[in-house]
Amino acid sequence: MFELLEEQISLEANASQLYLAMATWCESSGYPGAAKFFYNRSEEEREHMMKVIRYINKIGAHATIPGIKQPPVNYDSFEAVFQLAYENEKDVTASINKTVNLSKEEKDHFTFNFLQWLVDEQLEEEQMFESILTKIKLIGLDGRGIYLLDKEISDMDNKVQ
Ligand code: FEO
Repeated sequence: MFELLEEQISLEANASQLYLAMATWCESSGYPGAAKFFYNRSEEEREHMMKVIRYINKIGAHATIPGIKQPPVNYDSFEAVFQLAYENEKDVTASINKTVNLSKEEKDHFTFNFLQWLVDEQLEEEQMFESILTKIKLIGLDGRGIYLLDKEISDMDNKVQ
């Protein structure tokens, strides 16, 4: 269980860094709405990582801090960014499911309960990326389409200005 929770720290840390890389690419490529969105996602993933770290320490173990993978610097397109983010979320979901399953098997009720917020958040995030990809396909990425999409993505939350 400890190993899986440590792996979760690593996945959340890498997701945070990946979304930061995506935010800065979007910002310098003329997509301010998507940039704001990814800056927020990056902060949120860091919050997830922090929660897992604090949980491990709370149950009397010692959470260790992993190194972070270098995320891609450049992306092929606006759509490619969201596709990669979606794939990343699916990997994170698979890992969480594995950890939840083990907590059930080991009758580790504390960890099982702790993980429920992450399961909910994960479902929300995966659905959010899926819906953005659907919109990209529906609206298309010609000049007007991309302008509308970028604005809509920006309006999804207003945490970072
Ligand atoms: Fe915290 Fe989106 O994984």
